[in-house]
This record gives sequence, C-alpha cells and structure tokens, in this order.
Amino acid sequence: MLKPVRLGLVGLNFGATVCRELTGNPALPVRLTTVCDMDAARAQERAAEFGVPYTTSLDQLLDDPAIDAIGLYTGPNGRANLIRRIIRAGKHVMTTKPFERDADEALRVLHEARDLGKVVHLNSPNPRPIAEMVYIKEWISSGAIGRPTVAQASTWVYYGATPPDGSWYDDPQLCPVAPIFRIGIYCVNSFLSIFGEPATVQVTHSRVETKRPTPDNASLTIAFKSGAIANILASFVAASTHDRYRGGTVIGGTKGMIFHGIGPAAREGEAGPNLILSSEDRIESHVITGHSGEYDWEFFAQRVRGEVDHDVTTPEEVAAAIRVVAAMSEAERTGKTVACE
Ligand SMILES: NC(=O)c1ccc[n+]([C@@H]2O[C@H](COP(=O)([O-])OP(=O)(O)OC[C@H]3O[C@@H](n4cnc5c(N)ncnc54)[C@H](O)[C@@H]3O)[C@@H](O)[C@H]2O)c1
Repeated sequence: MLKPVRLGLVGLNFGATVCRELTGNPALPVRLTTVCDMDAARAQERAAEFGVPYTTSLDQLLDDPAIDAIGLYTGPNGRANLIRRIIRAGKHVMTTKPFERDADEALRVLHEARDLGKVVHLNSPNPRPIAEMVYIKEWISSGAIGRPTVAQASTWVYYGATPPDGSWYDDPQLCPVAPIFRIGIYCVNSFLSIFGEPATVQVTHSRVETKRPTPDNASLTIAFKSGAIANILASFVAASTHDRYRGGTVIGGTKGMIFHGIGPAAREGEAGPNLILSSEDRIESHVITGHSGEYDWEFFAQRVRGEVDHDVTTPEEVAAAIRVVAAMSEAERTGKTVACE
C-alpha cells in the first residue's frame, strides 16, 4: 500500500466531523496525525477522542516535518492568509467551503500554491467534478438538452430556534444570506460551472424561527450573461430528520431537462435512479451515491504524491463563486439587484 498523506487538522468544531471521517475509515489514503485548535480545552478533548496529540498553535504543525498536509477547518474569513502561511511552510492544504470572502485574495493564494507546487483542495467547488456533474456536463456538452436556459435547486435542514452565540454565523458581513452561504453554496458552485459567467444576483430572505440576527430562509437568483437564470432556495426551517441536508435540482434546456435528487429520500438513490436526463431522443437515468460537499481524499492524495499534475477546476472558477457571494452580500444589505464584478 502507498504511504498515506500525514495530515494535521486545524479547527475542531466542524473539523471534528472530518476527523471522525478520517479515523473511521482506515482505507482512506490520508492519516490524521495531530489536531489543533486555539481553544485548548477543545483541542485536548478531540485529541483524546481521536487518539492523537494536540497543539494550540498552527506554527507548531508547520514546523513538524512528519506532517505533509494541513486540514484547515477554521471559518472562511481570512482563510487565504492562513493558506499562504501553510504553503510557504511547504505543506499541502485540504480545506472547506466557502473558500474565502475575498475573491482577489483567493486567486492570489491559489496561483502562489500552483507556483510553489503545493496542492490546495476544498470540497466545493471540488478540484475534479463530482459524480453527478460528470454526467450533467457530458449531457450538456453533447447537446442532449440543447441550450441550457434555466435551473432551480433547493437545499434544506431544520435547525429551529438557534440562539446567537457570537460566532461568524451571527454576522451578516461574515456570513451573508446565511442559508445560501452555509448550505446553498454547493448549488452556486454547480450552477457557475454549468452556466458560465454570472451577470447579476437578487436575494430574498426571512427569519422564521432563528434567534440569530442572520436569516434562516433564503432564495438567491443568479442571471447569467448567456441569458440563463438559476434560482437556489436554501432553508434552515424545512425538512424532517430523514431529509436533513437533502434537496433537489432541475436544469432545463431548449431540448430537454435534467432532474437530480428530486423528492423525499431520492438523493442517495434509495427510491431508484436519482439523476435523470429527459431529452428529445431518450430518457437516461443513474443512481448517484454520495453528495456534493464530500472531501475527495483519493484525488488529494494522488495530487500530493504527484501522480496527477493538475486539478480540473481552475483558481478562476473558485474565485468566480466568491464574486457571486460578494454580490449576494451587497444584495442582502441593499435589497437591490447587484451586478457580479
Ligand atoms: N459539510 C461541510 O463541509 C461543512 C459543514 C459545516 C461547516 N463547514 C465549514 O467549516 C468551516 C468551519 O466551520 P465551524 O462551524 O466549525 O466554524 P467555527 O468558527 O465554529 O469553528 C472554527 C474553529 O477553528 C478554531 N480556530 C480558528 N482559527 C484558528 C487558528 N488560527 N488556529 C487554531 N484554531 C483556530 C476556533 O477556535 C474554532 O474551534 C467553515 O468554513 C464552514 O463553512 C463545512
């Protein structure tokens, strides 16, 4: 077996879930070696849970020659700066959505990583297309649905009356249009890769049960330069426990439609095929397992080991999504239609 990538993981709130994934599946090509959080009690507790040493200092991980890569699970603000420190210390990075709040910063750090020969991956946009996107892009490029003109996606979970906790989730500047930024972001990334350059965005949002100052119900409409329109509806006040983080997508074109994950429990194929092409000449369907937002550890390890020399997704594609988020933030603040620049 090839030597696993040795990973030190920073940020142990959501990051603890990633630690569970890594330690729960020894077949993965990445091994958790150390955990890190500036909150010492949290770091100590997680170290005990995962049976690895801990530190409260990122620098200590960066100085450790036995660590190949850093899993970076801090909040999205200022992430590029942390990544810069990590790649300059000679380590690779796996991180999470949303990548950054500043598109220019994101571009600069991704180009620097490429120049330094360091891998920086995240879970959305994925560095190579996820299963359903491979089919969707192939169907679209083969002309099966004609010219893509519309799309609609929804994603939901029930959080109820969550209290404010002073974290970035409470701050509309750091967490704009919260349901879209936190869970709808996967759909933003998918739609950009289908429809290309965005022109303008519009936002509608409401607070239904949350006690946080940020919304728990939101809709984002993106108008693309091609004339296509895509809508994303994201909610923290919808779904039974069986339907948490589910949702569905419809993509329409001048000659056909694509349906993904529509209906209860359809997302993981329990109810049969969950990705369907309906075109002039055929109906084609597939069962897609897994979901957007997964971390592609296989590809990460291949890239770190130099078995594959580049990602499919470009830095410019990562930055494009951040520009949409910036426009979305402005639309939330002003209530107006905002151009994506
Ligand atoms: N399914 C998913 O992939 C998924 C799910 C939830 C959250 N996330 C993402 O994970 C990221 C983190 O979310 P969260 O809710 O855990 O945020 P959080 O702010 O609650 O937790 C971040 C943790 O990182 C620690 N930290 C911050 N800066 C540090 C530093 N420089 N050195 C050491 N420790 C540091 C903090 O002490 C805290 O424990 C966000 O980008 C979020 O969008 C992804």
